[in-house]
Amino acid sequence: MFLTASNRREFLTTLGLLGAGSQWAFTGAARAETGSAPEEKLALEGGEPVRKQFLASRPYGPQFYDEVEQRELIEVLKSQSPFRWWHDGSKVLQFEKAYAAHIGVKYALAVTSGTTALMTAMAALEIGPGDEVILPAWTWYADYDVIVLAGALPVFAEIDESFNIDPSDIESKITPRTKAIIAVHLQGTPADLDPILEIARKHNIRVLEDCAQCCGGKYKGKYVGSIGDIGINSFQLSKTITSGEGGAVTTNDSELFERSMRFHDVGAIRAPYTEWLKGGALNAFAASNFRMNEFTGAVLKAQLQKLETICERLRRSARIVREGISDLPGIKLRKTPDPEGDIGVGVFIDFGNRQRRDRFLRAMRAENIAASGPSGSVILPVDGRIEKKLTVHSAWPSFQTPEGKAIQYGAACCPKTIDIIGRFGGVIMDPNFSEEDLKDIIRAIRKVYRAVGTA
Ligand SMILES: Cc1ncc(COP(=O)(O)O)c(C=O)c1O
Repeated sequence: MFLTASNRREFLTTLGLLGAGSQWAFTGAARAETGSAPEEKLALEGGEPVRKQFLASRPYGPQFYDEVEQRELIEVLKSQSPFRWWHDGSKVLQFEKAYAAHIGVKYALAVTSGTTALMTAMAALEIGPGDEVILPAWTWYADYDVIVLAGALPVFAEIDESFNIDPSDIESKITPRTKAIIAVHLQGTPADLDPILEIARKHNIRVLEDCAQCCGGKYKGKYVGSIGDIGINSFQLSKTITSGEGGAVTTNDSELFERSMRFHDVGAIRAPYTEWLKGGALNAFAASNFRMNEFTGAVLKAQLQKLETICERLRRSARIVREGISDLPGIKLRKTPDPEGDIGVGVFIDFGNRQRRDRFLRAMRAENIAASGPSGSVILPVDGRIEKKLTVHSAWPSFQTPEGKAIQYGAACCPKTIDIIGRFGGVIMDPNFSEEDLKDIIRAIRKVYRAVGTA
């Protein structure tokens, strides 16, 4: 069902993507573009749709639930020990160790969600009132909210055509109060960490990697979440692997780990970590309860074994679609700093403006293929509650400082982000798309692209 390197050529030949003498010449398209063949009528205009049945991706992880998850869950039920501490054989602990080993870090701490992982990381980095944290203008609410919940001030930077934070927009946002940069790896594409880390080191600022949308992704050979000072992940339904809800904090720094451990569990360290951390180097402090339960740990332990399969399938599908459209005249695809490490969540095209992009989306849907703009995040500075700096208490520390009072969010602080998010459109991959599905996606993009154009 899935394309191997050896049968890909055959597949593309069938599709008409391999012309004589030119690896990616698409003979049908070339004919249409030179006017020697009639263009297919768009379904939007009454033509025959590429597919009879609508094609859309589904949440990845649950498609791989099988007897491995079942066995792990049943073991928890039989153990009658759904709490992670006070017994040997904790699934949460097994998951933490396996996950740390998988991505190549010393420590992984399982928590209840990506949001609580971010809150824990904020605490680990000792971020609080008076501090500023830089984050991309396009990301999920949690990145902004945890900065505010820590009492610190969120400062937005623009994204670039990778949909991730633009390293060239970071330095001008740094002040003596800047304590951290959140490098978010969005929609499966790693952020360009080298320049971000260089800026951070120069200014003595910490880097928090938010890997929620890129679990399994790599940057220059290393797993995301293992490169910055601290990383977080989410295992909510829409992520690469899932237990419905869940999260993790990862780091190589024992002090950041101990503070994370204490913050997530009433200020304490418990066995076996007490022994591993040699009793700990820090005092207890006011903290929380973000402990993961054993059922969640059991599912994640099983899902982790499927992570590489899911990523490999997504990558392969995205690569095939990219290659199948790469010869289209003037085509500009989403940028990625590391094509090998990108997990291939989607294939996105730059249509130059929102009007053309929206026409592409409508036309693709009429062809019975789900298409969307960049998704899973929000242009945060223009969100009503953020633009108005709303908090649960009117004297919230974030916005009481002179800088907090002065800061203005809204469209004026992220014009480039608004432009980029408005002009890209694409198709989200699924790890179980068949060869036929991929052919249809390529065929539909080629058909619609020719009608819509890019510039
Ligand atoms: C980039 C990013 N960070 C953090 C989160 C928060 O994760 P959770 O929903 O598990 O709290 C999400 C969730 O979608 C996300 O996309």
